[in-house]
Amino acid sequence: MGALTNAFNKMVGRVKQMIQTRDQLLLDVSHELRSPITRMKVALALLPEDENRAGMTADLNEMEAMITEMLELERLRDGRGIKVERQDLAMILRDVARSLDQKAPGIRLASVPNHLLLEVDGEKMRVVLRNLLENAIKYSLPDSSVIDVSVIQSDNWAVIRIRDDGPGVPQADLANLFEPFFRVDRSRSRKTGGYGLGLSICKRIMEAHGGRIEVENNSDRGVSFILTLPDNNPGNISSHLAG
Ligand SMILES: Nc1ncnc2c1ncn2[C@@H]1O[C@H](COP(=O)(O)OP(=O)(O)OP(=O)(O)O)[C@@H](O)[C@H]1O
Ligand SMILES: [Mg+2]
Repeated sequence: MGALTNAFNKMVGRVKQMIQTRDQLLLDVSHELRSPITRMKVALALLPEDENRAGMTADLNEMEAMITEMLELERLRDGRGIKVERQDLAMILRDVARSLDQKAPGIRLASVPNHLLLEVDGEKMRVVLRNLLENAIKYSLPDSSVIDVSVIQSDNWAVIRIRDDGPGVPQADLANLFEPFFRVDRSRSRKTGGYGLGLSICKRIMEAHGGRIEVENNSDRGVSFILTLPDNNPGNISSHLAG
């Protein structure tokens, strides 16, 4: 038993170290790529304007955006890069939903209170909500019913649930969904083309708030993402208006 425990602990240590090494590599590479990309952009600007130049500029901008997201991901890891203050999350939710609800299959804020005051980084929570709602839209099917958003409050937690009626996620992939660059469909098509970074950013942001993000397949169709945030303001429950 002793030998087994020892071996197991050693293994856990090695896995932890491997993950750390991988994250550090990702960070270093992202950082190092920034200067050459900037130099290329400058060089490109000096070339005559044509189709090639436009295409290369677009590619460079995409690379730059990706690197910015990678570095942002790292900054969030240990709670750096987050600024909390009292925010009305219900308002933020309505705001983000409004900016996206012209797109099929639409968004319904079925039971969201008028106000939900929480200690959060408003801009970062906006990113989380937008990423999740954009995914729900992007991965919807032609006959998907409306995306459903609801809020449940308990003593010390506020729980936001985003439920879609899309294709869902294969059970075996659920555990990997929050890993950087993980995509269920490996081929990056024009329509759904992203990097697979959105959900890993959501996870980091939720954890930096002392909260969490979970996902489950619905019993009928589609997935639900569940955001849990600490709520130290018990007055919230009395202001909760379902409807
Ligand atoms: N609502 C959803 N329904 C079905 N699959 C989803 C849903 N949300 C995410 N996924 C799957 O999880 C993968 C990872 O999502 P994530 O948001 O991290 O990346 P992405 O949307 O592919 O790209 P990015 O967000 O970086 O533009 C997606 O590629 C998709 O396969
Ligand atoms: Mg996404």
